[in-house]
Amino acid sequence: MTLDQERVLAAAETFARDVHGGDRTGHDWPHIERVARLAASLAEAEGADRFICALAALLHDVPDEKLNASREAGEERLRSWLDGQPVDQAVREHVLEIIGTMSFSGGHNPPMRTHEGRVVQDADRLDALGAIGIARTFVYAGSKGHAMHDPALPPRQAMSREEYRSGKQTAVNHFYEKLLLLKDRMNTAEGRRMAEERHRYMELFLDRFVREWDGV
Ligand code: ADP
Ligand code: NI
Repeated sequence: MTLDQERVLAAAETFARDVHGGDRTGHDWPHIERVARLAASLAEAEGADRFICALAALLHDVPDEKLNASREAGEERLRSWLDGQPVDQAVREHVLEIIGTMSFSGGHNPPMRTHEGRVVQDADRLDALGAIGIARTFVYAGSKGHAMHDPALPPRQAMSREEYRSGKQTAVNHFYEKLLLLKDRMNTAEGRRMAEERHRYMELFLDRFVREWDGV
């Protein structure tokens, strides 16, 4: 990596820390930091461009609708920040494309176009899995006032974008509606290997959770 690239990454870190500072819905700065670390190691293992992967990972949740007045306002904030950075137009466009296409949104987005996009999307998905994924799920549910679990409320299947974000939800159902589906949607070999391990851990957790729920 060049010195200029190191500087852009440091500036991106400062910017993202500021944007994510007070978030308590699962998009706090530590999430960004973990995704950036995962993206760097996946990029290494997969032979993807480390600078693009690290930059896109640091910025990937800046336009999130939960942190901005709207998705569009968030995209504008990201674009204007990138415009002020000493990077090629091609890099800028690539990073914007990755961030614009990587979110899960109920599983409705088309596959990522580039290798770097596949790496960053895998990194973000990995942070929704395993022990960290379990913790984030319950923090998110708590922040929304959702119950941990409700055996009378079955997990929803095939959902529209709107249904994915609204409707009656529980933390446990989120595993069946999203998290347990992710391991089969991983893009890279290393990402899939890590996802499988984290998936098994979540299955053990859920198995135990329902047994304890039933008093076993
Ligand atoms: P993304 O936009 O990448 O899909 P989200 O903003 O939906 O991510 O989620 C942020 C974190 O909160 C993730 O760990 C996710 O699994 C969790 N989460 C999202 N929706 C729910 C939900 N309905 N119930 C519990 N956890 C959720
Ligand atoms: Ni994220």
